Amino acid sequence: MSCQEGWIEDANRYIAQTYARLPICLIKGEGSYVWDTEGHKYLDLVMGIGVNGLGHCHPRVVAAIREQAGKLLHVSNLYHIEPQIQLAKALCRISFADRAFFCNSGGEANEACIKLARKYAKDSGHPERYEIITMEGSFHGRTLATLTATAQTKYHKGFEPLPEGFKYVPFNDLKAVEATVGSKTAAIMLEPIQALGGVNVPADDFLPGLRRLCDEKGLLLILDEVFTGFGRTGAMFCHQRYGIEPDVMALAKALAGGLPVGAMLAKEKVAQSFSPGTHAATFGGNPLVASVGVEVLKIIQEEGLVAYAEEMGNYFMGRLKDLQRKFGFIKEVRGKGLLIGVELEFPGKEIDVRCQEKGLLVNSLGDKVLRIIPALNVKREEIDQAVAVLDEVLGGMGK
Ligand SMILES: Cc1ncc(COP(=O)(O)O)c(C=O)c1O
Repeated sequence: MSCQEGWIEDANRYIAQTYARLPICLIKGEGSYVWDTEGHKYLDLVMGIGVNGLGHCHPRVVAAIREQAGKLLHVSNLYHIEPQIQLAKALCRISFADRAFFCNSGGEANEACIKLARKYAKDSGHPERYEIITMEGSFHGRTLATLTATAQTKYHKGFEPLPEGFKYVPFNDLKAVEATVGSKTAAIMLEPIQALGGVNVPADDFLPGLRRLCDEKGLLLILDEVFTGFGRTGAMFCHQRYGIEPDVMALAKALAGGLPVGAMLAKEKVAQSFSPGTHAATFGGNPLVASVGVEVLKIIQEEGLVAYAEEMGNYFMGRLKDLQRKFGFIKEVRGKGLLIGVELEFPGKEIDVRCQEKGLLVNSLGDKVLRIIPALNVKREEIDQAVAVLDEVLGGMGK
C-alpha cells in the first residue's frame, strides 16, 4: 500500500463512492511521471483519462495559470471576456466551426449538442424531429440526456425513466444507421473512435458514409471528440483523418491542460439556434480556464504535437505488436495516434495492478481492453520503458 495514513479510510468515509479507486495517493506530477505519498515514481499511461495531453504540469500551462490567476479569475458571461474570445477564435480557426459555446465537462458539451440539435430542428421547420441516433458501445457522459445517448444499458440501470428520443445502432454499421433514420430523426451522434467502449476504430468509409447520409436526409452530424480531440489520434480532431466535417462537435478533456472545461463547436446556421436565454453555463469559458485553453492550443501547435503523436503512436503500436507476436493471449493492438487499445483474451485488471507495482500506470477497461493514453509529448525512451514493464508483466501472467 502506498498511501498516507488515513487517506483511504477518509476517502471511503467521506467521498461518494462513484469510483473504484486503486490504493495510490498521487501528490506530484511532471511530464510523463507522477509520484505518490511514499515517493514512488510512476510512468503515467492513463493521463487523467486523456485530460493531461501535455503531460503533468507543463511549465507553460503552469505559467499561464499563475499569470491569469493574478489578473482575473472569474466574471459572469454577462460581460465580454478577452481570453474566451481568443479561445473561441482559435478553436474556429483550427476547425470546421464558426462559433463556440463553453461549459465545464464533456457531458455538458454533449448535452449542449443534443439541445442544439433539437432546437435547430424546430427552428428549421421540423418540430417533429427530435430523435438522435447513437452507437452501441458509445460513451457520452453521465447527465440524464448524455447517459441515454450512451448506448450501453449498464450505465442506464437504476436511473429510469430515461428521456425519450434516442435510437441505438451498432457502431460501424452504415446500413443499420440508414435503416434507423426515420421521420423523427434530427441527428446522428457518435465518437469517431470509441475510447471508453474499447478503442473501437471505424472502417475508413463509416464516417464519410454518415456524412453523406446526413446531407441526403437533412440531418445533423454530431461528433463527440471529447476524448479524441486536440491531437490525441494524430490529427487535431479525429474526423480530419477521415476527410469529413461534422455540423456540431463536443470537446473537453485536454483543452485546458487539466482545468475543468467543455466546449461545443457548431457551424453558423446551426449555432444560430442558441440565442440569449436558450442555454448557458455559469463557469463556461471563464477567464482562467479560457486563457489556459489558448495557451494549450499554442503549445500543441508550436511543439508540433499532432504530427509527433502520430509518429509516437506508430512507434508504440509497432512495439505492442511485437508483444502480440510473443503473447498469444493478445488478440489485437488497435488505435490511432496515441489512443491505443490492447485487446486481451481475459480482463486486464490484474495487469493494471502488476504494472502499478512496477511503476507503470495503465487502465484496463472491463471488457478486456488495456487502454494506453500517454502524454502527446511522451518520449521514445518512455515508450521503451513502458513496453519493457508490459513485457515482464505479460510474461508473468498466469504465474
Ligand atoms: C467520448 C466522451 N464523451 C464524453 C465524456 C464525458 O466527459 P465528462 O466526464 O467530462 O463529463 C467522456 C468521458 O470519458 C468521453 O470519453
